[in-house]
Formats: sequence, structure tokens, C-alpha cells
Amino acid sequence: MYILSFESSCDETSVAVTKDGKHVLSNEVLSQIDIFKDYGGVVPEISSREHVKGITYAYLSALKNANLTMDDIDYVAVTEGPGLIGSLLTGINAAKTVALNYDKPLVGVNHLSGHIYASMIEHDVVFPLLAVVISGGHTEFVIMDKDYSFKRIGSTLDDAVGEAFDKVARILDIPYPGGPLLDKIGKDGKDIYNLPRPMIHSNDYSFSFSGLKSATLNLFNELKEKNEEYKKEDIARSFEEAISDCLVEKAKKAIKEYNVKEVLVVGGSAANSIIRSKFNNSLNNVIVTFPQMKYCGDNAAMIGISAYYKIKNGEIDDITLSPKSRLDL
Ligand code: KG4
Ligand code: ZN
Repeated sequence: MYILSFESSCDETSVAVTKDGKHVLSNEVLSQIDIFKDYGGVVPEISSREHVKGITYAYLSALKNANLTMDDIDYVAVTEGPGLIGSLLTGINAAKTVALNYDKPLVGVNHLSGHIYASMIEHDVVFPLLAVVISGGHTEFVIMDKDYSFKRIGSTLDDAVGEAFDKVARILDIPYPGGPLLDKIGKDGKDIYNLPRPMIHSNDYSFSFSGLKSATLNLFNELKEKNEEYKKEDIARSFEEAISDCLVEKAKKAIKEYNVKEVLVVGGSAANSIIRSKFNNSLNNVIVTFPQMKYCGDNAAMIGISAYYKIKNGEIDDITLSPKSRLDL
């Protein structure tokens, strides 16, 4: 089964062709990061316009790189939400146009399920599994007992993991996009500041990172006020260790409670080297899986893979599909 998929929920315009819910034949990703460097973050109106500019090229390029034509495509999939409404709209309109024009069935995909299924590219998972979704907009713990069945057991009460990375990067004067650059300098730092691990021992799977962000800000201001010598590398590393501990401790608890066999760590912040090594080194008797680096951030390949399992589950949409800024799994 060949699926043509579109993703435009935030600042990447992407179109992909995937095969049988496992293989990526092409995955064109046009990133808007360079544009938003000057703004320090995503500007929704500009993002929407950039999607309009790039989507036709991405579509043609995805088909060409897969060496296929629309005749070969079985389904058209697209991110339905959550995301920026104007940005989503561009992908949905493009997908509808193609689906109508070539008479193909249309499938709307939840962006978060896309992130989860990114780890299933060229990889077979073992159920029950725990998906740790850590992106710019979301921090969710999800249990899956079988394909396309999502049970959300916890989420953040305030900032998402990626959002906390971006805000702490801003505190440290690290330019946008903060997450990857903070990751880079943190590798040379030491965890010497013992920052708080909020809610680490709470009796549920909730997270709260805004206090950790404030503690990092207070630490930075204090060091400057007292004229103490400091290295941004050490502050970055201390923050990363704290946030990773919160995630890993709760993962250990979920593994026990839900008899989890495999842990998937997915989403933009799953690219983080400290988070990766802490998950790899701290969990026993479970498989720990991360998507390939190129599939951690937003991309259309993960939408195509997820669509395959939605179709297998007997779920199809139609031309009335509309963008949803909020959408639960
Ligand atoms: O999944 P994604 O591309 O978009 C959303 O769905 O939100 O995630 C983007 C987020 C940003 O907050 C970015 O700073 C973060 O992922 N991120 C990272 C790293 N690379 C991207 N956070 C920590 N370490 C990284 N290496
Ligand atoms: Zn995302």
C-alpha cells in the first residue's frame, strides 16, 4: 500500500511517500527555521504563507523522489491537528485537492500519533508499549496495547519539554531554535547545580516544567549578580539532567504498572543526547527505541506510517475533513 502524506502543522512543510506502514520512499521537508531565527520563534501568519509557497514543490518532489506517479498512490493522508490552524489548513487543502483530483481516499492523522509511529519506520514494536511524546507543544505518556489504540496516562500541567528547552535556551541567550543548540553545549557541561526535579515522586504521570525553568532563570540571575564565574554549559547540562530524570523516573513507574515491554521516546526533543542516554542507561528489561534523528522533528513520513495503521483499523475520512488546533489522541 502506497500512501502520499502531508504535514504542515507548525514550521515544517513536508510531503512523503511511504509503503506498507514501514518503509519511507521519499520524505521532502522544507524547514522554516531560518526564517524564524530573526523572530526568536514561530510567527503563525508567516508560517502559513511559507507553507503555501512550499507545498506544491514538496508534493512534486516527494512523488519524483519516490519514482512514482499519482496512479501508484492508494491513499492520501494529512495531519488534521493539533497545530497552528492556518498552517494545518494549507496541508489539508493540498491533500483534499490531490485526493479529489485523482479520486483517492483521504485520511486525517493526529500529529502526535505521527510522532509515535515515527519509531515504527523499519522497526517492529512489542506491545504493551509506553510512548513518551516530547515535542515543542506536548509532553504525553501514552500506553498502547495494540496498534492504533492510545491510552493517555499523563501529560504536562504547564510547559512542554521542547518548550522548556526553548525557554531555558532564551534565558542563556542561545538563539532559536534553542533545543538543538542547548543540547550541543550541554555535552561539554557538568550537572553541578542540582536543579529541582518537579513532581518526580508524585503519584501520577503528570509533569510540571515551568518551576524548573524559573529555577534555572533564578540561578542564572544569581550567578551574574554575585559575579560568580559560571559556564553556560554547566547550567544547560544541569537543566537537561533534571528534565531527563523527571521523564525517566515516571517511565520506570509506568513500566511496572502497565507491564510495558518497549518504551518509545518520540518527538522533537527525542533528538536530545542526554535524554537518549538516560533512557538507554536507566531502564532494565525493556526495549528502548528512538526514531532515527531525521524522523524526530516534524515530517510527513511519520504521518504516512500512522495513516497506514488508521486505515488498517478501518478508519477513513472524507472531503469534509477540517483542521483542529486541539485534537486528543
Ligand atoms: O516535534 P517538533 O519538531 O514539533 C512539535 O510538534 O512541537 O518539536 C520541536 C521541539 C522544539 O521545542 C525544539 O527545541 C525541540 O523539539 N528539540 C530539541 C532538540 N531538537 C529539537 N530539544 C532538545 N534537544 C534537542 N536536540
Ligand atoms: Zn511535532
